[in-house]
Amino acid sequence: MTTPIEPATWQSVLSDHGDMRIVAVDGDEAVADRNAIVQLDPDHPGFRDQHYRRRRNRIAQLAINYRSGDPIPEAPYTADEHRVWQTIWQALRPAQQKAACAEYLAALQLLNFSDERIPQLREVSEQVQAISGFRLEPVAGLVQPKVFLENLADGVFLCTQYIRHHSTPFYTPEPDVVHEIVGHGVTLASARLAELNRLFGNAVRRTHHAAALESLSRVYWFTIEFGVVREDGLVKAYGTGLLSSAGELEEMHRAELRPLDLEAAAREKYDPTHFQPVLFCADSFDEMYASLKSFLMNWT
Ligand SMILES: [Fe+2]
Repeated sequence: MTTPIEPATWQSVLSDHGDMRIVAVDGDEAVADRNAIVQLDPDHPGFRDQHYRRRRNRIAQLAINYRSGDPIPEAPYTADEHRVWQTIWQALRPAQQKAACAEYLAALQLLNFSDERIPQLREVSEQVQAISGFRLEPVAGLVQPKVFLENLADGVFLCTQYIRHHSTPFYTPEPDVVHEIVGHGVTLASARLAELNRLFGNAVRRTHHAAALESLSRVYWFTIEFGVVREDGLVKAYGTGLLSSAGELEEMHRAELRPLDLEAAAREKYDPTHFQPVLFCADSFDEMYASLKSFLMNWT
């Protein structure tokens, strides 16, 4: 007998550093709850920085006021926040040139990010939509994983807009605008990766039991978040968790590589709080695309 999915299960099975997206319900009485989700844990790098917390709350408020389909509001980033982007992008861009797969680098070229300033969700969304039909929409913080994943079926990617704390430019305990745009935004500007995201959303919609959801979430983790492929004899990343972190791109060369086997990935446990020790590597991007597409289309 199978067990129906509880909200707590959705949270636990997808609580990675990049996509731990919890709770945001509709209705006026929920505003306090929505504000509560941008409260930080005591071990968060910005916990004691009142200025940072006010900045995050101000940016989160834009998303709280946002309604799906509206023009995306411009986030009023400060000069300090743009400097955080400059620091990250200066390290990440060369790391990607060495370690990203060709499909990602081609999409990156289309988006052509500034070295100087944080790209606005609105401009990235417009570019991505013209390429793959996907659009980005702002959310205040951590969204319920079921909501987050099912939106993919409609070609909507829910994005946070704030940036990580300046004291830890190479680390964020939750998805921030860098992970969203550099990781997911770019991959959604690839027609094939966008299609796989949609298929994940459709598969989640057809998933009604906790164990099946957990399996599917592991496949998401080992492909969309941490997938690698071989290109010309080298290991290259297409996973957003790798591509949005210079540290992860460095460490991926020390990981144990296993052949891409989606049934095995569905059974493999992972620890989101450390660099990933095990990665599933396809022989080529084409092989990964065909295998994952088939797996998701046949998911019941
Ligand atoms: Fe992610």
